[in-house]
Amino acid sequence: MNTITVNASKMYEIKIGSGILDDAGGILHKLGSTAAIITDDIVGPLYAERLEHSLSHSRTRVVKYVIPHGEASKNAEQFLSIINFLANEKLTRTDTVIALGGGVVGDLAGFSAAVYMRGIGFVQIPTTLLAAVDSSVGGKTAINLSAGKNLAGVFYQPDMVLCDVALLSTLKPEVFRDGCAEVIKYGVIASADFFKSLEAPMDTHLKEVIARCVEIKRDIVMEDELEKGVRKLLNFGHTIGHAIELLSDYKISHGNAVAAGMAIITRAAARMKICDSSCKQSLLQMLKHYNLPVNTTFDSASIAHACLADKKRDGGKVTMVFPERIGKCILEEIKVEGLENVIKLGLEEN
Ligand code: GLY
Repeated sequence: MNTITVNASKMYEIKIGSGILDDAGGILHKLGSTAAIITDDIVGPLYAERLEHSLSHSRTRVVKYVIPHGEASKNAEQFLSIINFLANEKLTRTDTVIALGGGVVGDLAGFSAAVYMRGIGFVQIPTTLLAAVDSSVGGKTAINLSAGKNLAGVFYQPDMVLCDVALLSTLKPEVFRDGCAEVIKYGVIASADFFKSLEAPMDTHLKEVIARCVEIKRDIVMEDELEKGVRKLLNFGHTIGHAIELLSDYKISHGNAVAAGMAIITRAAARMKICDSSCKQSLLQMLKHYNLPVNTTFDSASIAHACLADKKRDGGKVTMVFPERIGKCILEEIKVEGLENVIKLGLEEN
């Protein structure tokens, strides 16, 4: 089992191993007298019983709340239902919320744990590649508003992340692919060597891939937990990606939208001479290698308009992440009026 320690506003460990869900009872100590598992109607039937069984060896009472799967659940109504559930089950500040699921479950459960009684214990057990490499680490929690994705949220670091790599082997290919987009992102923003290693299929060296992504994210979060600067690099492809998700009414998944967002901003970067065409070709090839999209049918005006609902907007400017080369990205402030042009450059083939 790999252990990666994050030393941010809270110090916590990320445990990565195969089969460790069954050891949760031994690994997760200090759960308090009650632990509330928050999961969804796909993951719950697969894994909740194993988790409950493992926790039954501890003295903690375990309760469970199941949400419908999918992005549509990441809303204010579900959030209210969960915190009412926690109150009805009489959880106190020393008790724990355990998120068992992908990004939607993690973000929603984390936001509920952060707000209920101004913050109770919180553990993440990611069951998708995307959650393992990104959303379970670093403390971003949120729900969506009709105006945009993740518009209500707080930074709230978990007390532990337990990542059982074996759970990811049964993911549907399209769900696994979603996480591949985030993994590729880490290569572009932080390491050309890591990017190159992804030419070998990720599922052949998954534990190492997850550990490397988590280390990259850990280093960035420790430097800039509240996203005042360098953490914005993690948003590579995300401003346009979130716009695509919103425009598709969340029918296009996060990973697919981010893949298209990375391709679009990289084509724009090549046109703007921020990166050369080999950088662009490498990214497009890698995305295609993992069957990820490299474009969208939405037009530049709609995307630019939807981008303005994103949190990355700062008054009249939007901070965009551009690649300079594989392994290095830069942040550029783009005036709101200029955003559509940048997107247009990225949509045009060149
Ligand atoms: N998902 C990007 C971040 O955690 O900052």
